[in-house]
Amino acid sequence: MQDLTPDPQPAQNSRNTVLLTRRRMLYAGSGGLLLLALWSGGIYELARHPSGNASARNIAAPIAAPAPAGTDDFVPPPESSIPDGPDGAAIRRGMALFTEPRAHVPQYVGNDMACAHCHQDAGRKPFAAPMWAAWVAYPKYRSKNDKINTMEERIRDCFVYSMNAGASASGGPPPWGSPVYADMMAYFRWLATDAPVGQDMKGAGFLKLSVPTQGYDRERGRRIYEEQCALCHGSDGNGARGEQSEILFPPLWGARSYNWGAGMARVDRAAQFIVHNMPKGSEGSLTEQQAWDVAAWIDSQERPKDPRQTGSVEEAARRYHDKEESFYGKVADGHLLGAGL
Ligand code: HEC
Ligand code: HEC
Repeated sequence: MQDLTPDPQPAQNSRNTVLLTRRRMLYAGSGGLLLLALWSGGIYELARHPSGNASARNIAAPIAAPAPAGTDDFVPPPESSIPDGPDGAAIRRGMALFTEPRAHVPQYVGNDMACAHCHQDAGRKPFAAPMWAAWVAYPKYRSKNDKINTMEERIRDCFVYSMNAGASASGGPPPWGSPVYADMMAYFRWLATDAPVGQDMKGAGFLKLSVPTQGYDRERGRRIYEEQCALCHGSDGNGARGEQSEILFPPLWGARSYNWGAGMARVDRAAQFIVHNMPKGSEGSLTEQQAWDVAAWIDSQERPKDPRQTGSVEEAARRYHDKEESFYGKVADGHLLGAGL
């Protein structure tokens, strides 16, 4: 077993720190949460609402990462065009489930994640695995379970792994045939209005990257993380909550994050997401090498166990993680990764 660089854990993030860098500023005052992050691409503000609720909102025009050259972006319909009647009601329910599953179906959510934390912009954003592109691609073969997956099975998988449904009150994802799936699918079908069926759509999935010639290095990644990510996601990776306990910034590791079986727990998948979609507000500013390194730092931290693991970590590593770019089953900082939280 390979031992990875034993480096000290970064210092705890203090909520009452003033951090000022050239591109952004975070200020958390003692009289309540006031965070302000500034950068060249826009302004993202966490402010007190008149009601007293802290909330995250974008006060500049929506931030769009520069699209890779040659992207002929599909544009899903505006929210204002959701029809009236039963179909429209299902589409709206599906959208609400997708953006705030913890509020609507807490019994199936075992962590602090929402679908839209990864499938950004409520599942609309190209190269953040958008739902319009997914809708026209299923049913489809997946090597992960070696069979044709229906859309219901694919959604269920993100509940099991990304949302860690095993740790939820019900102990699992929505049961087969649940209206949760039907409503989400109604929403995806509507997002895909006028999309060509059976063609690979530009913007589907994530940007494809290959492992850099230098490989990836979690120590280099730690430094990038501290400089560019900890501001929002916390030095401890736990993200940040508002006064009403709402999630302002989602966790990247720890007990409330995605589990070891999730796509995002793979270094390649995380790098592909990060290179185009993070750091929020300066999307696209990281080199591919930096995206791999920071992904290695995030994905070499402990998180909830892989629900497929019934025997030892070593056995699950051979069975499920063998062909992956993953730290599962490796030792970092003297700890066997995959043991779970
Ligand atoms: C922690 C991040 C994360 C969360 C949270 C998450 N997903 Fe995913 N999802 C992924 C990743 C990674 C993929 C794989 C994308 C790829 O391989 O290109 C994926 C893929 C998918 C796909 C297939 C996309 C495609 O193009 O094939 C669907 C559908 C999907 N997720 C639905 C959901 C739903 C519904 C939820 C909430 C219940 C959810 N996801 C929550 C990370 C996440
Ligand atoms: C200005 C705040 C901010 C910064 C800086 C930032 N993020 Fe994020 N990040 C977010 C928010 C907010 C989301 C949820 C998705 C959204 O709202 O677009 C998110 C989502 C994510 C996700 C998917 C959801 C999850 O919890 O796994 C990953 C992975 C991620 N960020 C990694 C990074 C990395 C790596 C960096 C540094 C290179 C970074 N982020 C910098 C705010 C930020």
